[in-house]
Amino acid sequence: MINFRDFEISDLDRIAEIMESSLIDPLSKSYLEKIQDSESFIVAIEKEKVVGYIIGKTKNNLGKIISLAVQKDFRKKGVGTKLLISLTKRFKRSGVKKIFLRTRTWNKKAVDFYKNLGFKIVKEIKNYYKNGDDAFLMEKMDD
Ligand SMILES: CC(C)(COP(=O)(O)OP(=O)(O)OC[C@H]1O[C@@H](n2cnc3c(N)ncnc32)[C@H](O)[C@@H]1OP(=O)(O)O)[C@@H](O)C(=O)NCCC(=O)NCCS
Repeated sequence: MINFRDFEISDLDRIAEIMESSLIDPLSKSYLEKIQDSESFIVAIEKEKVVGYIIGKTKNNLGKIISLAVQKDFRKKGVGTKLLISLTKRFKRSGVKKIFLRTRTWNKKAVDFYKNLGFKIVKEIKNYYKNGDDAFLMEKMDD
């Protein structure tokens, strides 16, 4: 069974591990330490082990998904969906009307994942990432 709770500082090394094996540009540990209080940072736990996380931020009725990843062998079990739904509920309580994120245009798995959850591609941003990759800006109105 998967449980969800807020990030705790003792999760830091596990989150860094998941990021390093899932993302091209993992966030630094010092960045993660700083955001823990001011942002929504939810982790998924299976048998006391962190297997995924989502980080979000709100500003002026706008919610941003900063980062989301699930450990490889726990994917396709609905963990990413549940993390996103938990964050969306929080956003709603904070009065968020619109949620957005950016993802690499070639990351079909992520693009399809967000589309299935109601996000739409609104813009392509050329050369957005450090390595020159293009981004899709995706948005969803909170209903
Ligand atoms: C994108 C990501 C977070 C999705 O996480 P996930 O836990 O695999 O997501 P889910 O299991 O909720 O959904 C993924 C797929 O599994 C399917 N699925 C969910 N539960 C399932 C189940 N019990 N059995 C079979 N399939 C299932 C979903 O329908 C979805 O299908 P789709 O790929 O056709 O859209 C994950 O692939 C990941 O960490 N990727 C690397 C990091 C990344 O790209 N992050 C996003 C960039 S911003």
